[in-house]
Amino acid sequence: MARRIAIDSAPQEAITAAVDVLRRGLPVAIPTETVYGLAADATNPTAITAIYETKGRPRFNPLICHMADLAMAERHAIFDPLSQRLAERFWPGPLTLILRLRADSAIHPLATAGLDSVGIRVPRGFAGGLISAFGRPLAAPSANSSGRISPTSADHVEGDLGGRIELIIDGGECPVGVESTIVKVEDGRIRLLRPGGISVEALEAATGKTVIRTQKAGATIEAPGMLASHYAPDRPIRLGATSVAEDEVLITFARATVEGEHLARRVLDLSPSGNLAEAAANLFAYMKKADASGARAIAVVPIPNRGLGEAINDRLARAAAPRE
Ligand code: TXA
Ligand code: MG
Repeated sequence: MARRIAIDSAPQEAITAAVDVLRRGLPVAIPTETVYGLAADATNPTAITAIYETKGRPRFNPLICHMADLAMAERHAIFDPLSQRLAERFWPGPLTLILRLRADSAIHPLATAGLDSVGIRVPRGFAGGLISAFGRPLAAPSANSSGRISPTSADHVEGDLGGRIELIIDGGECPVGVESTIVKVEDGRIRLLRPGGISVEALEAATGKTVIRTQKAGATIEAPGMLASHYAPDRPIRLGATSVAEDEVLITFARATVEGEHLARRVLDLSPSGNLAEAAANLFAYMKKADASGARAIAVVPIPNRGLGEAINDRLARAAAPRE
């Protein structure tokens, strides 16, 4: 079983032990503000291969490379002025920029799947400090088995990968709860590749530009790894529910009531006060609870599609998509 170190009780030990695992070319599960990541040295092919093996990912997809700060990111990627502005405004934070890889970057092609671009973000909190201490970028997908719901607590990680990794750093629950927003600047325009922890409205307010949405669940795969079916619970998910049937779990929002609610095996409200950021933070944990409840299916009420609601609806659509 993986060793577990809580940042709250042993912050220095958490860094030291994690750096030790990384130096040995192995992955370590770490908290970020979005979800827990399975992090490894982005310059070491053995370490990157270990990420894929641990997750049971069938093939190599490009991974997000996490940097300590903008200066470190600039050593690996070429920034156009708009990407620069986004980085200055939103880093550290849940925004990933797809940028041109510098020819002299030490990031291994296994981390970028051989593309001439690289996905980069600067995470908040412990992860940022760890990267500074380690001194190299960390490639990190979410710390879950391939195709499963991303973990937002150390317990989630332990329950899934605990038998396959050496170390889990426990930073409590992830405050954002959905993965980073991924954008790519092209010809001075911002394209949304994956909605996430920074809303489109926030990107538009910061830049005065209209964000172009091209990626939809089920749409053409924009990047290797953007699979339609993802975040899959075992139980079938029914979206936009206006009623609930016997033996279903209901995931609701803002105290919305639906027909037959008394029949539900369990009712989970993502945010009784109707706060979409709170709903995003609770989403994956509630999907896991619903899945584990033994109910026949999961019914989810309509979620407003503004702000972080867009990321929530994206993850729900993927969870409901036909399995591959
Ligand atoms: O919040 C997050 O982003 C979390 C935490 C751990 O940082 N990470 C995460 O990683 O969600 P992952 O591996 O599940 O998702 C990475 C996504 C993939 O869908 C991949 O297609 C896209 O980023 N990506 C990475 N590099 C890319 C590139 N060069 N071009 C296009 N897409 C890229
Ligand atoms: Mg993932």
